Amino acid sequence: MHLAVLGSGGDGPGMNAALRAVVRSALQLGHRVTGVKQGFEGLIRGAFEPLSRSSVSNIVQRGGCVLGTARSAAFRTPEGRGEAAARLREAEIDALVAIGGNGTLAGCEALAREHGLQVMVLPGSIDNDIFGTEESIGFDTAANTALEAIDRIRDTAESHGRVFFVEVMGRASGQLALHVGLAAGADAILIPEVSRDFEDLSEVVRQSTSPNKHSTIIVVAEGETPGGAFAVADRLRDSIDREYRVAVLGYIQRGGRPTMRDRTLAAELGVAAVQALAEGRPSSLVGRLGGKLAFTPLADSVGKTNEATFEYLPLIGTLSRLR
Ligand code: F6P
Repeated sequence: MHLAVLGSGGDGPGMNAALRAVVRSALQLGHRVTGVKQGFEGLIRGAFEPLSRSSVSNIVQRGGCVLGTARSAAFRTPEGRGEAAARLREAEIDALVAIGGNGTLAGCEALAREHGLQVMVLPGSIDNDIFGTEESIGFDTAANTALEAIDRIRDTAESHGRVFFVEVMGRASGQLALHVGLAAGADAILIPEVSRDFEDLSEVVRQSTSPNKHSTIIVVAEGETPGGAFAVADRLRDSIDREYRVAVLGYIQRGGRPTMRDRTLAAELGVAAVQALAEGRPSSLVGRLGGKLAFTPLADSVGKTNEATFEYLPLIGTLSRLR
């Protein structure tokens, strides 16, 4: 079999570890592997390069995506996907492994349906919002990066007795904010999935200091409200009796060395994707559900979201002053 592999959409830590797992396991099974540069953009242009065992040496520990990645507007059109399918046929490629998030999933589902191609998608996204897996590659690293940043912010918040609104990424999903806020011991966590009573929130800020604690940390998911943490702070401005600051963590959450958890997840899912292709399994999202490998047909995963860990919500209600 001749298979192609690409990273697509927003990069995330662990994408390289997944790429390595795909390439090495495919070569070991006697397949040929071609790398596609810059995601779907490179697929449309035919930006291909043959990959060997050594092409993926020394990348397991690196953040980003060594093949490059892109968000491709052209691939959202049937014409763009037609071009991509033509490039794959010309190069005599039988199957594709794509590492990416929901946009990648939607693109791959359309490509597989319209052109009869066998495609496996590995969930790579710091947002952890992909249906068919409890955890996506990159989430653990991004969450730990954000957590470390909030721990540092807490030092200065405490010294000055300030309120901090800390915005974390996640697009429309509150998964990252929820986990990071819980782990950081935030006083409140604002996520798009739960509607917010701003009266309650003002009360949280008023009550959140004690003789041993002078700071308040409110974690805000970027998708909570247009304007994110700045908009939340503006809305609360008049009811806050202390100085406040806003910190948007931004793209630092996307980079850096992947954690052990992201690397092992990438290895497991990458090897499983290649095996699934060799077994002739239909195009699927390769993930983990209930602690086990799970293959979800692309058509069943697309357009949905992973809400599995919202079981954490009651914990936050107990440990913080507000969910
Ligand atoms: O999907 C990952 C993500 O980092 C989101 O959390 C964020 O909203 C978005 O990508 C940013 O996208 P871009 O890289 O196109 O600015």
